Amino acid sequence: MNEDLMDKIVALCKRRGFIYSGSEIYGGLGGTWDYGPLGVELKNNIKREWWKDMVQMRDDMVGVDAAIMMNPKVWEASGHVEAFTDPLVECKLCHERFRADHIEDIKSHEHAHAEKDKKCEWTEPQKFNLLVKAYLGVVEGKQSEIYLRGEITQGVHVNFKNVLDSTRVKIPFGIAQIGKAFRNEITPGNFTFRSREFEQMEVQYYITPDEKDDMKWFNYWKDFWMDWYVNLGIKKENLRFKEHEEGQRAHYAKAATDIEYNSPFGWSEFMGIHHRGDWDLSRHENYSGQSLKYKDSESGEEYTPWDIESSAGVDRSALFFLIDAYIEEDGRTILKLHPKLAPYKVAVFPLLANKPDLAKLAREIYEDLKKDFMVAWDDRGNIGGRYASQDEIGTPFCITVDFQSLKDNTVTVRDRDTTKQDRVKIVDLKDYLSVKIK
Ligand code: GAP
Repeated sequence: MNEDLMDKIVALCKRRGFIYSGSEIYGGLGGTWDYGPLGVELKNNIKREWWKDMVQMRDDMVGVDAAIMMNPKVWEASGHVEAFTDPLVECKLCHERFRADHIEDIKSHEHAHAEKDKKCEWTEPQKFNLLVKAYLGVVEGKQSEIYLRGEITQGVHVNFKNVLDSTRVKIPFGIAQIGKAFRNEITPGNFTFRSREFEQMEVQYYITPDEKDDMKWFNYWKDFWMDWYVNLGIKKENLRFKEHEEGQRAHYAKAATDIEYNSPFGWSEFMGIHHRGDWDLSRHENYSGQSLKYKDSESGEEYTPWDIESSAGVDRSALFFLIDAYIEEDGRTILKLHPKLAPYKVAVFPLLANKPDLAKLAREIYEDLKKDFMVAWDDRGNIGGRYASQDEIGTPFCITVDFQSLKDNTVTVRDRDTTKQDRVKIVDLKDYLSVKIK
C-alpha cells in the first residue's frame, strides 16, 4: 500500500476541510466521517452529475427518495436478516474482532502479537449480521426493533407498484435513488472506503424476464459506468472489471461485476453491477401479499420483471476522485478534479488587496459570478500563494483583477492545469467559464 500517498490525502482532506473524523472532539466514532465545507461541495457535485445523467437526461428513468427506516419485514423479505453476514473471528488473547476473509488484517494482528512473544488463538468463524438495529417508539419497553437500511435498494423495490401506478413508465425502465445506508462493518478502514454510515447512488433497472435480453442490459450498464467515471476524469488505466464467480456473489445476485479502482491500498471495489433477477420483487410479493407484477399494456402479459442494479458509493466515489486527481508537480500540489466536480469553479482575486479600486471591481465580479457558480474569494498574501492554495483544492480557474482591468474591463483567467492565462472581457466571463466547465 502506498501509505505515503494515503497519508497525504487524509492530511489534505482535514487541513482544507474536505473530510474530518466523525465526532472528533469526543474521540471519534469508528467508521463514521463528517464532510467539511469543501467535501460537501464535492459530494453534492458527484450526486448532481449522477442524478442529471440518470434522471434528468433519460426518458426511461425516474427517481425516488424512500425512508431510511422501514418496516422490519422488508429486511426479512430481502434476505438481509438471514444472509447479510460477514464471517467474524475473534482473537482469544485480546478479543479484537476481524473479518475471517480479510487475511492481511489477520496476518498483521498475528505479527503484532508475535513481536510481543504472544501467539494468537482464533475463535471459529461465526456469521455476523451487518444490519444496524435501532428502536422506534416513545414508550420504554414498547419500542419496536427496526433496522437502519443496509442498502438503499429495498426502498425502491417496495415502491415499484407506486411508481407504476403514478407515472407512465414502461419496461425497460429504471428507478434511481441516492441516500444513506448503514452497516455494522467488522473492520471499517482505509479512510472512508469502508465506513459504517455511507451514501449510495443506485439504479434498479427493470427489464423483461428474458434470457435473450438480460445480459445485453447487464453489459450495457457495465460499459455505461466505466465510461461515466472516465468522462469525469478517472484515469482509464486505474479502472477494471472484476467478475464475481459463483459462491462469491451476494445472496440475491444471478450475476455480478464490480468496477475496481487501483487505489493506494490495492485494487478495490468502486461500484457493483448486479443481475438481481426477480429476487426482490418476488420476495416482497410473497411477504407482503401484494401483487408486484407488471402488465404489458400492448400484449396484456403479466410478469415479474428482472432487475439489473447499478450500485455505487458516493463516499467511495469522492475518495477515488480525490486520489486520482492528486498530483505533485514542480513543487505544487494540485487536485486535477474535473471542473464539474471541483468544489469551487473559480476564485477571484484583486491583484493588491490594499488598492480600493481593484478590490471594488474584483468584489463586483465575485458577487456577480456567485449567482451562477461556486466562487472563492482570496485577497491574502501574494498571487503565487493564492494560486497554490486554489490548486490544492482543485479550483480550475483563478481570475485576477489588475490595473489593466480598470482601463479596459478585462481580467486574467488562469487555468489550473496548464497555468496559462487568458485575458477575458468581464462581460464574457460567465460564457467563458460555462464552456470551460462543461
Ligand atoms: N444494493 C447493492 C449493494 O448495496 P454492495 O456491493 O454491498 O451492493 C454497493 O454495495 C456499493 O456501496 C459498493 O460498491 C460501495 O461503493 C458502497 N459501499 C458498500 N459498503 C460500503 C461501506 N461500508 N463503506 C462505504 N461504501 C460502501
